[in-house]
Amino acid sequence: MSLVTGRWPWWLLLSCGIGLVSGDDLCPKKCTCGLLGVVCTDLVEFPDNVPLSTRQLILKENRITILPAMSLGLLIDLIYLDCRFNKITQIMDYTFIGVDKLMYLDLSFNNLSLISPYGFSMLHHLVILNISHNPHLKEINKYTFANTTSLRHLDLSNTGLEFLDVHTIHHLSNLKSLHLKGNPWNCNCMLVEFSMYLIVTKIEYPESENITCLGPIEMAGWPLTLVGNPLRYKCLTHLDREDYAFLLMVGFCIFSGGTVAAWLTGVCAVLYENFHRRAEDEEVEEEIEDEKHKRIRVFKCKDNRNFDAMNHHFV
Ligand SMILES: *[C@@H]1O[C@H](CO)[C@@H](O)[C@H](O)[C@H]1NC(C)=O
Ligand SMILES: *[C@@H]1O[C@H](CO)[C@@H](O)[C@H](O)[C@H]1NC(C)=O
Ligand SMILES: *[C@@H]1O[C@H](CO)[C@@H](O)[C@H](O)[C@H]1NC(C)=O
Ligand SMILES: *[C@@H]1O[C@H](CO)[C@@H](O)[C@H](O)[C@H]1NC(C)=O
Repeated sequence: MSLVTGRWPWWLLLSCGIGLVSGDDLCPKKCTCGLLGVVCTDLVEFPDNVPLSTRQLILKENRITILPAMSLGLLIDLIYLDCRFNKITQIMDYTFIGVDKLMYLDLSFNNLSLISPYGFSMLHHLVILNISHNPHLKEINKYTFANTTSLRHLDLSNTGLEFLDVHTIHHLSNLKSLHLKGNPWNCNCMLVEFSMYLIVTKIEYPESENITCLGPIEMAGWPLTLVGNPLRYKCLTHLDREDYAFLLMVGFCIFSGGTVAAWLTGVCAVLYENFHRRAEDEEVEEEIEDEKHKRIRVFKCKDNRNFDAMNHHFV
């Protein structure tokens, strides 16, 4: 104990000395600057003059509404940024343009309603991104995570998200866990691709039984991770007006084709029947003809015999 307290003045002296020399290690008002990083409390805006070498900046539980790209951009060594429990409303284009070493970004429990598609475009090393508990965040552009290919854990839970394009995340090959619970997922046909993706990928969905559809009514309460196949089936058999027109046309073609085929069959049958009958008739006629000839022959024979007899008689 005495050793630790005893060391304090030495550290203080050292940091003050560096501060005096470099002029950038002064700690901002309402912040404490320690070895591990800078921790600020009771702020309404982003602190000025954060030491440029800061690697970890903890701004949780303040009332900050804007993250200014200019001030943030000076912190080129920043790796860890915790902005939990603030009132940040937007992530603008290139908000994080200067902090491309950032690996951890926590924006949970803010009031985000807009994330620009280029908001995270420079965060090539980001590993953990937490956007949970932003109830006014209704959509995420499908290019938002285009460049954050190092992401391993993405928390999108308890937001206003009803829909997510599968292309928003399907290129994130390092992703291990995706938090999706507590969102008002609208499990309509637009969500088929995403829900099918949830079935085939190896990504984890913590608390998957609490990732449920809010609408439409017939899907309400279903776990999003299970609706893929039923939804696909439903949407494949779902028919639009054009589909009905097409199917009607196909039906009509089949029907008229059938009618023509039946008519042709009928005609063929009749023709065959006629032909057959004629052939039979001819046979019958031939037979009759034969019979006639036979009879005539017999008759002639008889005649001859009679004639002979007669002759005999007369002779
Ligand atoms: C959050 O933002 C919405 C607009 O997106 C606004 O109506 C609401 O008052 C904000 N809430 C807080 C606590 O600032
Ligand atoms: C991805 O990063 C490159 C440069 O690193 C940039 O030109 C491009 O606009 C970024 N794309 C998106 C969608 O952010
Ligand atoms: C995101 O933040 C919330 C609240 O701050 C926390 O409960 C949750 O565990 C975090 N998610 C991840 C993946 O760290
Ligand atoms: C799901 O949510 C309910 C109530 O919100 C909770 O009681 C339950 O523990 C949650 N399930 C999991 C796995 O967290």
